[in-house]
Amino acid sequence: MSHAVPLTFSQGFLIGGSFAANQVEGACREGGRGLSVWDCFRLNNRGQGGDAFTLPYRDVLAAAADKNDADYPKRCGIDFYHRWREDIGLFAQMGFCALRLSISWSRIFPHGDDAEPNAEGLAFYRSIFECLRENGIEPVVTISHFDLPLHLALEYGGWANRDLVRLFEYYARTILDAYHDVVKTWITFNEIDATLHIPFVGAGIIPDQVANVKAASWQALHHQFVAAARVIRYAHMTYPDLRLGCMATKNLKYPKTCKPEDCLKFLRETEEDAAVTDVQVFGRYPHVVTWEWQHEGTAPVMEPGDLDDIAAGTVDFVSFSYYASLVVSAQKDPAEMASANLLVGQKNPYLDQTPWGWQIDPVGLRYSLNEMYARYNLPLFVAENGLGTLDEFDGHTVEDDYRIDYVRSHLRQVLLAIHEDGIPVMGYTHWGCIDCVAGSTSQMKKRYGFIYVDQDDEGRGTLDRFPKKSFYWYRDVIASRGAIL
Ligand code: BG6
Repeated sequence: MSHAVPLTFSQGFLIGGSFAANQVEGACREGGRGLSVWDCFRLNNRGQGGDAFTLPYRDVLAAAADKNDADYPKRCGIDFYHRWREDIGLFAQMGFCALRLSISWSRIFPHGDDAEPNAEGLAFYRSIFECLRENGIEPVVTISHFDLPLHLALEYGGWANRDLVRLFEYYARTILDAYHDVVKTWITFNEIDATLHIPFVGAGIIPDQVANVKAASWQALHHQFVAAARVIRYAHMTYPDLRLGCMATKNLKYPKTCKPEDCLKFLRETEEDAAVTDVQVFGRYPHVVTWEWQHEGTAPVMEPGDLDDIAAGTVDFVSFSYYASLVVSAQKDPAEMASANLLVGQKNPYLDQTPWGWQIDPVGLRYSLNEMYARYNLPLFVAENGLGTLDEFDGHTVEDDYRIDYVRSHLRQVLLAIHEDGIPVMGYTHWGCIDCVAGSTSQMKKRYGFIYVDQDDEGRGTLDRFPKKSFYWYRDVIASRGAIL
């Protein structure tokens, strides 16, 4: 970057880190917590009959009854439940302005449908939020990050059941009422598009228990849109100083060639991917969705007033995760496939990829910010970005120059989007700022953190924390407000 004066982030820019309750907390049976759907996955989903994100009903039942928590990495996390003061201290040393974290629904309502909230769970998060504020760190809270109380999946069929709208509203109002004084920035659902791609994780739908998975997923997603909109409306009316946003996976795609067939497929997929955010920003379903319902017979059942609720509860900002981009071609070439978070697509010969096959595309982040601002005209928040890779720990630290390169190249593009393109970016919270259990595979060896956690895939280790080289580098980035980038 050759600018006479270095580009910087503004004072209010929310730079920091990000993680989710189920990937860090552990203590799955302490403090009154109930199990969640994510607690059913073993390492790599090993020994069970599904893919990384899906379990057959018999395996969900078996997991629900299994008390060997050590076999389920997300039940153990990285013990943030007991070490949160130390971890927040480390984030403060890096100078974090923000920490995006989620509340575990089953810590507040262990079964999801309990009459009263669990006081111990409420007290736990209050201590964390207060500690963050004492350290000058703004909490950005996700209400639901893939950890639906397991009871709601088993007894209600997950979000395909209308009752979930009411139960979620009760849960969300409870935490808004409890924390509105200390948490000003909220995100309703993490990667809400997951309901369509990985319905068990996104919505608690057990695929072999429903006649038509696509129809059940749309039904669930409709319920989530209604519930999110009602919660946003409630918050806007009750606590006008709060800002609430949606969150989706940014599946950036490029057409493989300028062949019209490739471009048409690219256009279709881009519109389909944008649809979940369109609904929450514009307050209505776009054509691409209603056409799909008509065409495939998957239209959800709606109650009178649902569409009005969706229209009345639109978001204040748009947040998203950005890890990779993909290429779209009318002709599939299985030899050329690459993955990007929840999706697969084709390889891009101009990009490198991580050991997990996610294509690294910093310029794509600037592209995404431009594209989304043109479409939504709302402040944008990069809620997740980071490099999941193998680290070599030498007993003291990790020399992770590759992580520094990754984050530097992405943050430079954020600065360019802000200063050269005029895009209002609210913040950037680096995913897995401390090593945590991987969402997709439940591995520990897929590490994102600036802080190394001494724990392996099998759960062995001291759980001690060690700053990596990137820890000091990120600290300096924040201290200079990006000037050293
Ligand atoms: C996002 C999720 O999809 O990607 C996180 O919101 C997840 O929960 C992150 O951890 C990275 O994915 P993974 O599988 O590498 O942990």
